[in-house]
Amino acid sequence: MDIEEEIRSLQLDSSEDNNGVVNPEAAKLEQIEESDKMDVDLNNEAHKESQSVHVEPSKVKEISAPEDIEGPEDAEGDKKRHLNVVFIGHVDAGKSTTGGQILFLSGQVDDRTIQKYEKEAKDKSRESWYMAYIMDTNEEERVKGKTVEVGRAHFETETTRFTILDAPGHKSYVPNMISGASQADIGVLVISARKGEFETGYERGGQTREHVQLAKTLGVSKLLVVVNKMDDPTVNWSKERYDEIESKMIPFLRSSGYNVKKDVHFLPLSGLVGLNMKTRVDKSLCSWWNGPCLFEALDAIEVPFRDPKGPFRMPIIDKFKDMGTVVMGKVESGSVREGDSLLVMPNKAQVKVFAVYCDENKVKLAGPGENVRVRLSGIEEEDIISGFVLSSIAKPIPAVYEFVAQLQILELLDNVCIYLVFCPTFRVLFFKFFSCQ
Ligand code: GTP
Ligand code: MG
Repeated sequence: MDIEEEIRSLQLDSSEDNNGVVNPEAAKLEQIEESDKMDVDLNNEAHKESQSVHVEPSKVKEISAPEDIEGPEDAEGDKKRHLNVVFIGHVDAGKSTTGGQILFLSGQVDDRTIQKYEKEAKDKSRESWYMAYIMDTNEEERVKGKTVEVGRAHFETETTRFTILDAPGHKSYVPNMISGASQADIGVLVISARKGEFETGYERGGQTREHVQLAKTLGVSKLLVVVNKMDDPTVNWSKERYDEIESKMIPFLRSSGYNVKKDVHFLPLSGLVGLNMKTRVDKSLCSWWNGPCLFEALDAIEVPFRDPKGPFRMPIIDKFKDMGTVVMGKVESGSVREGDSLLVMPNKAQVKVFAVYCDENKVKLAGPGENVRVRLSGIEEEDIISGFVLSSIAKPIPAVYEFVAQLQILELLDNVCIYLVFCPTFRVLFFKFFSCQ
């Protein structure tokens, strides 16, 4: 098959029609098949019941309602910044437990609810999962002790309103993890210090590695690495274990593209017991730690300034029909409000904003960093492709014929050669991977 035929067949094979527009039905079928495969995989691994569970990839479950989601206009005088934090890391590292503990420590979950979860977890023979049950709200998640859908919750510190995105760690649910990480500004990489668990997550094929590389690729520029389960009897707040994990992670994080000095911070933690989270861990337990606790470290993370008054930019990650055309994405610059006239680039379609939603709430205004849904008039859903940018009319994002790209190859399997191929008919350059054997 020559290159042109190959490109054509790729286009036909995909869930796109000939105009390059995603066919939602075909995409959905693919997703369902994919998720069925995931469930089989998960069931095999966990040696659990053989019945497969239907899962819709990329769904987010809302755990706690944001208290103040009105955005900059209604938050006059409220100088708090807003940050989206994704919790990533290998399966069972303690992401949901830590997320649940954050909600408990910030007063959003009461003792009675915890007691209820303790009982439910015990009934399911998962005693130690009760804190994770705050984030893992689906029955199948609770039965298996594994997060499937990204859980979204909200909490505040002195200076910041945080949206937590609790990603699944199991390899079958990487597509859901990607959807969580793509909405995030910063990441909390949870690593288990328990004997053997750090090693499993860190080895090739472990999700510690995969999640770090995906997070970097998806634009998560800052990482807080929490060395969790420090209370475990195999660790017992050991400085040697902490140092061992830190010293192994640093070169790997560096090779994944992080500037370890500027963009990465480490800290020890127990998500289950809730130590070194809201307040610093007691010296009697961990005499060697002089750094911050989790809340302090999250507060101190600086992210590049995004201007609420800058030209409006929102890359579109998804779209659907619902009383007009609805587009989804994260506001990268500027603000959007009901009644605004905007451009969809690069097709220069002028549109009007009917409504703006943050999570389930209709808002008057949304600023940088907010993940929003925008209902538009003046454009059909099929005329939008994810990757298009909703943009200001006065200063639209430029459309270009050429750009300089830097590609980073994260892992090259043995005996694979890469060729750069130019296809004159379609005027595109693409990479081809060949086995050299
Ligand atoms: P996935 O969602 O499946 O990727 O797992 P997760 O990273 O969310 O882990 P989860 O919070 O479900 O916890 C997995 C197990 O680790 C549970 O049994 C928890 O009780 C245990 N665990 C989590 N944090 C700690 C901790 O700080 N100390 C101890 N001793 N156990 C912990
Ligand atoms: Mg989880």
